[in-house]
Amino acid sequence: MVVKTPPMGWNSWNTFADRINEEIVRTMADVMVNEGYLDAGYNYLVIDDCWALRERGADGRMVPDPAKFPNGMKAVADYVHSKGLKFGMYSCVGNFTCGGFPGSFEYEFIDAATLAEWGVDFLKLDYCYKPGTEPGARLYRRMALALENCGREILLSACSWGAEETHRWIKSTGASMWRSTGDVFDTWSSVRDIYNIQKGIYEYNGAGCFNDMDMLVVGMYGKGHVGLDNGLTLDEYRTHFSMWAFFGSPLMMGSDIRGADDDIKSILLNKDVIAVDQDPAYRQPYNVNGADTWARHMANGDIVLAVFNVSDNDGGYFIPFCELGLGRVTGRGLRIRNLWTGEDLGVRKEQIAGGIKAHSTVLLRCEVVEL
Ligand code: GAL
Repeated sequence: MVVKTPPMGWNSWNTFADRINEEIVRTMADVMVNEGYLDAGYNYLVIDDCWALRERGADGRMVPDPAKFPNGMKAVADYVHSKGLKFGMYSCVGNFTCGGFPGSFEYEFIDAATLAEWGVDFLKLDYCYKPGTEPGARLYRRMALALENCGREILLSACSWGAEETHRWIKSTGASMWRSTGDVFDTWSSVRDIYNIQKGIYEYNGAGCFNDMDMLVVGMYGKGHVGLDNGLTLDEYRTHFSMWAFFGSPLMMGSDIRGADDDIKSILLNKDVIAVDQDPAYRQPYNVNGADTWARHMANGDIVLAVFNVSDNDGGYFIPFCELGLGRVTGRGLRIRNLWTGEDLGVRKEQIAGGIKAHSTVLLRCEVVEL
């Protein structure tokens, strides 16, 4: 399956883990539609690990746990589709999933056919219990082939945590997104560490096969399966969302959006920031004038500037436009808008500078204008 922009949606793991069930899926589908998430672009509803029985059926097929999914998966998929959403499920390249349920190793074609029958549109394929003798690349290629030949469009979401230098081979497999790190937690250090890992691999992200920085923890406030303490501050959640959007990661919400307050919705539903993530060109970002200052050129000719202050101290930033290809010789400057405050900063001629609080982000969309 070919995707042009980073996939968006909601995934059950961060909040519900093994407590996922049909009722939750139906409620989440309703919330995604009624609260504006689908309109904002979040169109995949994905159930993660722990949906199956521990044993395959006599026919070799995976069996949904009837205590959690009493009407089977087709009924769930039908409901999700009736809301205008797409339905995603989870398996593993190994013999078992991380939760110890049946994995797809050597069942790839059977599982792809089963998912197609149920009406599944998305498969997250994890990396637990992978036989040591098998290279990850081969197993993702095999499942991608199974999906591409199952008679239904099913997006393959690889989840090999960056193992075996995933970034070097993943585009050869047919996956549309690939996890580049271990699991996210609802802590500042987790988000910061995932960001820091991107510094070594951001060149490998690209249209058609997007670097998945993991599910969003925005709005978890320390609750749910990956929640710890009180979670992040609002400023930190904004930084987290900005990082994922700026680097063009899939945006898969992971919090319990049934109870999202207005502050959290203003982050998850910020159309301007989502538009950065979803830019149709997905041009590679580049570093400007120092470690945590970045630029990305947009399809419409704008430039997005991002400054992430990951240190524990307030600081400042300075961006000379000559580093963006502009500068005095071009006779052009930038009309600048702050994507979080909505503030119009007017036209700047040769540079922009400012202060930035610890753990916060400055995200600016800049239009090139004649001076
Ligand atoms: C991890 C994966 C998580 C989640 C979990 C389920 O390996 O990275 O995102 O899917 O397994 O057991």
